Amino acid sequence: MIILGIESTCDETAAALVEDGRHLLSNVISTSVKEQALYGGVVPEIASRRHCEFISATVKKALLDAGKTIDDVDAVAVTFAPGLIGAVLVGVNFAKSLAYANRIPLVAVNHIHAHIAAAYLTNPDLTPPFLALVVSGGHTCFYRVSDYTDIQLIGGTRDDAAGEAFDKIGRVIGMPYPGGAALDKLAYEGDPNALRLPSPALADGLDFSFSGIKTATLNYLNGAEQRHEAVNRADVAASYTAKIVDALTKKTALALRETGMRTLVIAGGVAANTHLRASLEALCARLGVRLAMPERALCGDNGAMVAAAGYYDFLAGHRATVNLNASAED
Ligand code: KG4
Ligand code: ZN
Repeated sequence: MIILGIESTCDETAAALVEDGRHLLSNVISTSVKEQALYGGVVPEIASRRHCEFISATVKKALLDAGKTIDDVDAVAVTFAPGLIGAVLVGVNFAKSLAYANRIPLVAVNHIHAHIAAAYLTNPDLTPPFLALVVSGGHTCFYRVSDYTDIQLIGGTRDDAAGEAFDKIGRVIGMPYPGGAALDKLAYEGDPNALRLPSPALADGLDFSFSGIKTATLNYLNGAEQRHEAVNRADVAASYTAKIVDALTKKTALALRETGMRTLVIAGGVAANTHLRASLEALCARLGVRLAMPERALCGDNGAMVAAAGYYDFLAGHRATVNLNASAED
């Protein structure tokens, strides 16, 4: 069964064809990120406008790259929530029109569930149940994935997401937006113990708060500037990354213990972070837990993950109609 996945929740306009939820046939991503970088973050109006311009050609290219036509597509899956409302609406309306005009079933997919489903593409034998850690620009959450479409939130951030925290400090130390990937590289050149920073792991339970570590790092940078002291940016990147990775790893260990899960999936843009991947690999090796990660290229927003999630939603009998609406909230 071939699913066309369409994604437009933030600044990526993406479309992909996936067979049986596991086999990638094509994966096309058009992005307005370079233009957004001029403003140091995503400007929702610009994102929406670029989605309108890119979406038709992006979907066409996804079909072309797979050597298929719309007649080969068994269902259209589209992200309907959560995201920037004007951006999500573009994908939803395009998908509705495409499905209606071609009499193809339509499936509405949750963006976070789609991030988790990216792991099915890279790990063909991965099956639920498992624990999922979703770390992205908008989310830092633990999910108990009992079955393909039975996914429960069991903990998460009380304020910012890990990706937002990386992007914020990245911007302050002069990295282009989004700073996550650049900080990842820079952190290898610094001393992870150079700065004393508070942990984003809250004392009890599976929750995080990133506002404290962000403020402490900003205070350090402002203090150094006032004293006209040079800042070693690599030390900042290394210390900040180490503290965040350590918190994510500790809480993951706790979540594995509390849920009794023997498989861990990580997903979302920040799951591409090489320090986090290495730390979770070490944790899982120590605990004898299987770690299933999407390949790094499938961690960020893409249409393939939407098609993979859409396949399992379709099998579960979920169908959307032309009344489908977009939602900014989860
Ligand atoms: O999942 P995603 O593409 O979009 C959302 O759903 O939010 O995640 C984007 C986030 C950005 O904050 C970006 O800086 C971060 O993922 N990111 C990284 C890395 N690559 C992307 N953060 C840390 N290390 C990376 N290598
Ligand atoms: Zn995302």
